[in-house]
Amino acid sequence: MPPTVLLQHKALFVESENGPYVVKTAETSVPGPGEILVKVEAAGLNPADYKIHEFIKEFPLALGCDSVVRLSAHMGGYANRIATFQEYCIIEADLLVKIPISMTFDQAASIPAAAIAPAIGLYGDKVPMGGAGLTAPWRPGGHTEYAGKPILIMGGASSLGQYAIQFAKLSRFSPIITTASPVHNDLAASAGATHTLDRSLSLSALAEAVAAITPDPITIVFDAIAVAETQEAAYNILAPGGTLIIVQDEALKAKSDDKKVLRVWGSGHIPANTRIAKEFYEFLGDALTSGEIRPCEVEILPGGLNGVVEGLERPKNGTVRAKKLIVRPPETSEV
Ligand SMILES: NC(=O)c1ccc[n+]([C@@H]2O[C@H](COP(=O)([O-])OP(=O)(O)OC[C@H]3O[C@@H](n4cnc5c(N)ncnc54)[C@H](OP(=O)(O)O)[C@@H]3O)[C@@H](O)[C@H]2O)c1
Repeated sequence: MPPTVLLQHKALFVESENGPYVVKTAETSVPGPGEILVKVEAAGLNPADYKIHEFIKEFPLALGCDSVVRLSAHMGGYANRIATFQEYCIIEADLLVKIPISMTFDQAASIPAAAIAPAIGLYGDKVPMGGAGLTAPWRPGGHTEYAGKPILIMGGASSLGQYAIQFAKLSRFSPIITTASPVHNDLAASAGATHTLDRSLSLSALAEAVAAITPDPITIVFDAIAVAETQEAAYNILAPGGTLIIVQDEALKAKSDDKKVLRVWGSGHIPANTRIAKEFYEFLGDALTSGEIRPCEVEILPGGLNGVVEGLERPKNGTVRAKKLIVRPPETSEV
């Protein structure tokens, strides 16, 4: 009989509806077939983490949906087992990515959820909860099919936006138009944007600015922010027959039949997305090594898992700017 508990570790839990975050001792899970027990060296904070806290109904729930891990145990055979705000978690072997030796765990922790969401949105299968079905850059034709075609990415300074721009560049879209605060023009350009428009432009001014850049119809828009205003602006610019990919729930006031809106679920654990996730993670290891994909800037929060609590106030208040907040679970003080 295999042991049911290997060891114990610290994890961040919510124990009741709207209850506080608490760091507690948890029993370390045993990996099943195709799973690996890993030590979490660094975990990224995702705006989804505070949103989850607001609607969860099952307790206790361990939190965290982004991580970078160090292989810790042997291969063997869901929510608390895979949560990343803990010292050890379970992950599926298929979803592992080998990071380059030159990359820190903190840098790598900026990548998982922020990159998989645009990857699925753009290249995932055209199925419910899937993606727009574009040919991925790692597939035959993926470097030629979109050459010279425009793409619009709302929110080029956000983590998701920075990866979406990098994918658009790999797909050879051109021009790659994005929106950001002017202070982030250089950042967007370094990711691959050819044009960065001020995100404070009005809906009509934004449409005029895009039309001045390209006369071609915009048939793909990735809205990495997806608040009501960005959705409206993006949908307004989207050409008939085109697809708007949004990362939050739809908030459009009016729609027409000839424009598709796709809400992306950036998880490789959803059956609709397992194919694209496996393909993407296979590609990602090489792309990180070659420098084709580079991580976002990071800010390390002190206190290990205790840093999550204050850290999650920042995406809530809109005060995270062009960087990913990271905690290091091994630095958590005793509970
Ligand atoms: N569907 C999914 O699977 C999935 C997965 C992960 C995240 N998400 C969601 O995706 C969204 C982005 O997450 P993130 O982690 O990438 O955010 P983030 O990095 O925290 O975004 C911060 C950036 O957003 C930009 N921004 C804010 N409002 C904007 C606007 N109206 N127009 C253009 N840019 C704007 C700001 O750019 P400036 O500094 O240039 O002003 C800021 O730097 C969140 O709502 C998150 O919940 C969804």
